[in-house]
Amino acid sequence: MSRSQGNAKGRSVTLHMVSSLDGFIAKKDNSVSWLDSPGSVYEAGVSISAQEAATFLKAIDCYVLGSRTYEHALELGWPYGDTPVVVVTGRELPPAGTRKTVEFYSGDLKTLVDVKLAPRYRNIWLVGGAMLCQRFLKLGLVDEIRLTIAPVLLGEGLRLFSGSLAEERWNLKNVAAYKNGFVELSYSAPTA
Ligand SMILES: NC(=O)c1ccc[n+]([C@@H]2O[C@H](COP(=O)([O-])OP(=O)(O)OC[C@H]3O[C@@H](n4cnc5c(N)ncnc54)[C@H](OP(=O)(O)O)[C@@H]3O)[C@@H](O)[C@H]2O)c1
Repeated sequence: MSRSQGNAKGRSVTLHMVSSLDGFIAKKDNSVSWLDSPGSVYEAGVSISAQEAATFLKAIDCYVLGSRTYEHALELGWPYGDTPVVVVTGRELPPAGTRKTVEFYSGDLKTLVDVKLAPRYRNIWLVGGAMLCQRFLKLGLVDEIRLTIAPVLLGEGLRLFSGSLAEERWNLKNVAAYKNGFVELSYSAPTA
């Protein structure tokens, strides 16, 4: 499968996930306290002000998520603000309250990116879960991976990368270590 020429078309798909040190993105009981920041533990790290975080989030044009991530977000509290959200599902799902920013999509994922999203959005963030991210990766629809590593071993849970991805060498673009012990790794996709 040849990689979709994301940047050439002006849009970019960034896969962003938070993983434990041992490669899990969710615990079996779905509890999320492991994602909490333990406070200032790494002196050489950077910290981000609330204003910097808000500016960064404002630059995201659209979030894409799988239905299980959507259902979990509804339970936990909506983290996507008023930014447009596209939920991929084959089911009829309940709307997110009165939010008009949520759309549901069922069908081919390349069509989703190239036909539905690319004409409207440039900075598209794919934020989970594992199943949807793996399908995007397999189809060559991801331009950038941003993996945030939390300083915790979970032992078991839902693996970010489990299935049958092919060997591919990505290009390291940035490493950011934060005072709270989290590390963010950014990679761009291999060029064809
Ligand atoms: N640590 C993190 O950064 C992070 C981020 C996001 C999520 N999570 C966690 O990950 C868990 C959810 O991940 P998950 O892998 O179980 O599920 P998921 O990827 O969020 O959702 C899977 C669902 O997406 C739909 N889907 C996927 N591919 C599709 C396709 N090609 N066409 C149509 N529908 C498609 C299907 O929905 P239907 O079954 O409705 O058809 C499928 O059951 C939750 O616990 C969540 O909290 C963690």
